[in-house]
Amino acid sequence: MIEQVDSYLNEIDQYSITSAAELEEFRLKFLSKKGLINVLFEEFKNVAPEKKKDFGKKINDLKVNANTKYQNIKETIESNTQSEKIDLTLSGEPVKLGSRHPISLVKNEIVSIFERLGFTSSDGPEIEDDWHVFSALNFPLEHPARDMQDTFFIGKTPDILLRTHTSSVQVRIMEKTQPPIRVLMPGRVFRNEAISARSHCMFHQVEGLFIDKKVSFADLKQTLLFFAKEMFGTETKIRLRPSFFPFTEPSAEMDISCNCNGKGCNLCKNTGWLEILGCGMVDPNVLDNCGIDSKEFTGFAFGMGIERIALLKYQVKDIRIYFENDVRFLNQFKSLI
Ligand code: PHE
Repeated sequence: MIEQVDSYLNEIDQYSITSAAELEEFRLKFLSKKGLINVLFEEFKNVAPEKKKDFGKKINDLKVNANTKYQNIKETIESNTQSEKIDLTLSGEPVKLGSRHPISLVKNEIVSIFERLGFTSSDGPEIEDDWHVFSALNFPLEHPARDMQDTFFIGKTPDILLRTHTSSVQVRIMEKTQPPIRVLMPGRVFRNEAISARSHCMFHQVEGLFIDKKVSFADLKQTLLFFAKEMFGTETKIRLRPSFFPFTEPSAEMDISCNCNGKGCNLCKNTGWLEILGCGMVDPNVLDNCGIDSKEFTGFAFGMGIERIALLKYQVKDIRIYFENDVRFLNQFKSLI
């Protein structure tokens, strides 16, 4: 019997296994329920008592041996078949890169230009109340913006509405902070307008507010000139035309010179000038409404539409295309950061 065990030990040692099929044969022969090792365990009861100790140790060694060989070869075969599945000659998978939306690109550029002048950015709610959008900003009760035709009201009361401009954030900031204030407020605004190539019921604005002692119209003009040159090129000229906003006095609209120099172009309709923003000195009433002493402080504000700036920068003439999320359009901005 002992010799039998020795010969099995020898056989297991010599057994050559090169494939999964051969490994299975090995398992069936030695390790399965009806395999040779189990037969030896069956015979253990017939072994003479004085030999039981030796025999028991031998068949145990035999089992450990066979199991170790089986496990080792199994692992090798498994790792081989896994590496066979990886075809190293295949070309790499292309990594799909997204692109920033043109509106975000323009917004980021505007923000970074004003950051260089010490402006920080701030945000406010899109669903607003009458006070922050109209009343605090000096809008008279009969102003057309307070009409259903121009503003989206929410619910039955005319008090809750979608903000029609980011000027509401000015009010929120002035209520919370005392000057000096130097802040930029980018965000989405909503107006009850028919959707066409030139207007949309939702668009984006960037508003700027600067309040301190002795801030003058000259500061406003110089700030906007710096912005125009940074955004549209150092040759750019600006022109301020008198205008009206309830919350600024005096108020102005700013044009930048067109690249065609007025020689004839569709964009500026042969005038040589393109309107880009509204601005003015913050009306003293607005400062007082928001808890800032208008005798001590003055300030300027300006606001521009991001879609309008993007139109001038990228010559995209239909505003609707910005919101359609057509990847053929968006992919064209991939090379810009
Ligand atoms: N809020 C104005 C608009 O929506 C723009 C503006 C902002 C004008 C700040 C003057 C000062 O048209």
